[in-house]
Amino acid sequence: MSVSASTLDFGYPWWLSYGHLAIFGAAAVFLLLGYARKWSKWPMVFVGAVTLWSGCGFLLIRFGGDINGRPALPTQSFLRSGTGRVLDLGAGTGRSSIMVLGARPQATLVALDLFGESFDRHFGRGESPQQRLLRNLKAAGVDQRATIETSDMRKLPFEAASFDAIVSAYAVDHLGRDGIKQALDEAARVVKPGGEFLLILVSNDKWAKFLFGPILSHGGTRGPEWWRARVRDAGFQVVEEGTEPVTRYFLLRRP
Ligand SMILES: C[S@@+](CC[C@H](N)C(=O)[O-])C[C@H]1O[C@@H](n2cnc3c(N)ncnc32)[C@H](O)[C@@H]1O
Repeated sequence: MSVSASTLDFGYPWWLSYGHLAIFGAAAVFLLLGYARKWSKWPMVFVGAVTLWSGCGFLLIRFGGDINGRPALPTQSFLRSGTGRVLDLGAGTGRSSIMVLGARPQATLVALDLFGESFDRHFGRGESPQQRLLRNLKAAGVDQRATIETSDMRKLPFEAASFDAIVSAYAVDHLGRDGIKQALDEAARVVKPGGEFLLILVSNDKWAKFLFGPILSHGGTRGPEWWRARVRDAGFQVVEEGTEPVTRYFLLRRP
């Protein structure tokens, strides 16, 4: 597959990054209009509140973790050795793969995705999904250490214990209950004993509610307790757990 390197484009919908800015612009125009035309108190309070919310929302997304920006590892404890063969479950357009390969320059990685309907829903269908992923890996300068695998994370095409570590960001939580169990069982099968799994999930936390209301309710009402039970059922130990805005992560180890 031959694609040229360009700039990173993770391809999440524009409104996740700039929707609040668009609302802020429109609300600010109404605020000025209302001021010039001396609107009564309550319309001005409403427009002022929308302006404030959207302005704060944009700043929070811009400086608190833009889904279209290059991410940092949520924990430096992941793959502390710095080397090893890593599997990215649901790699999409490469954001999580680039996060790991950028932070761990001695590691190699298999970027696995089904590149099916869920990919299209998140990133749109245009040119080949694999080419979009490869273009981003090249733009980040990590393509030499990555390979792309088109497969289902619920039935992995790998031998048991063939990876030193696994990462998965905002992907396992897109599966149904049975799919989550299958994916976690498969992760436990293909990671080596002592290997780690950095599981990153969308969290329907106060930031998600403030910024997006009900729009981003991935994982429904599944809270941290539910996930802890599922990963333990699959045979993982929870080594570390933490949150970032709109995100919960678990650092797991296979005993
Ligand atoms: C929200 S994206 C996350 C992409 C990437 N990990 C990131 O951090 O931006 C979820 C990805 O999971 C993939 N996915 C969903 N179900 C899958 C499955 N059963 N097997 C493999 N990949 C799957 C989708 O194709 C999509 O690319």
